[in-house]
Amino acid sequence: PVDQSYGFSVEFVWKSTSFDRMQIAMKTFAVDDYSVTGYLYHLLLGHDIEPQTIRVDLPRKFSVPGLPELNQSQMTAVRSVLEQPLSLIQGPPGTGKTVTSATIVYHLAKQNAGQILVVAPSNIAVDQLTAKIHSTGLKVVRIAAKSREAVSSSVDFLSLHTLVQQLAKESKSELFKLQMLKDSQGELSTTDEKRFKHLKRASEKELLQNADVICATCVGSGDPRLERFRFKQVLIDESTQATEPESFIPIVRGAKQVILVGDHCQLGPVIMCKKAANAGLQRSLFERLIMLGIRPLRLQVQYRMHPCLSEFPSNTFYEGSLQNG
Ligand SMILES: Nc1ncnc2c1ncn2[C@@H]1O[C@H](COP(=O)(O)OP(=O)(O)O)[C@@H](O)[C@H]1O
Ligand SMILES: [Mg+2]
Repeated sequence: PVDQSYGFSVEFVWKSTSFDRMQIAMKTFAVDDYSVTGYLYHLLLGHDIEPQTIRVDLPRKFSVPGLPELNQSQMTAVRSVLEQPLSLIQGPPGTGKTVTSATIVYHLAKQNAGQILVVAPSNIAVDQLTAKIHSTGLKVVRIAAKSREAVSSSVDFLSLHTLVQQLAKESKSELFKLQMLKDSQGELSTTDEKRFKHLKRASEKELLQNADVICATCVGSGDPRLERFRFKQVLIDESTQATEPESFIPIVRGAKQVILVGDHCQLGPVIMCKKAANAGLQRSLFERLIMLGIRPLRLQVQYRMHPCLSEFPSNTFYEGSLQNG
């Protein structure tokens, strides 16, 4: 309240979870041989290494159910990504990066090579991507931080906590009865609480295991509920807004194929600490890989802006290459 000047106090509490997860991820990458494949390890560090490709049966059709028919550059990007262990997709706003990402995830899921981890630095970006993946018909679960469970989102019906509740309610399970008891009494006895937590964890595990795709924020992918999960295929949307340690959180769970989507011509990660920014934290993994000479796949047809609005960014930031769809 801005009109109140006394009678209250504000306490800033340092919550280290995000930073702890970043640090663990960097350490895992450094010491754990199974965090990523050897090939990715060298590539991510910028070592000189003989290029490798992934042998896959390419789909006959690249456009997928529930999403727009792809344009030529999107199709070329999807095809290339499927064969590469590491890909960068770059495109100005509205060029279908998220549509292309969801399309890629669909094809990866159809390879049946295990669950796919899909992340983005912000909750909004994760929600948008989750919705698009859902519209292809894949089974997708969005895992949100416990502290965000009360915040409603457009994809609540795909959120793990909602699914757990729904499943309990439909089956009128013991979990449901304990939840009712907890809601009416405010708390449970120690034994009941223990049982409640156990049942909830089991239900979460089952739902997560049954998903084709798991969506979370980069930091959220370090959630203890995903601790035992391994992901060979990882896609990071809006990856140019994530700090490098943040991007490593989803990558070090056994990645074999990584897809980074973003636009280094837009704002990078926001770092408040000047010292950290100057030391390199402001440079995203995407940007560093570009500096190392990895060429991004480009999307150049934008669908979001009226052509008279797109002219300015096209000429100012993209050498006039942005076309209108
Ligand atoms: N090939 C396409 N044909 C028609 N519409 C498209 C195509 N690709 C993307 N779009 C539309 O363009 C808009 C922006 O797409 P989005 O994936 O959100 O772009 P970005 O992530 O690059 O900002 C969306 O409304 C999307 O449905
Ligand atoms: Mg997008």
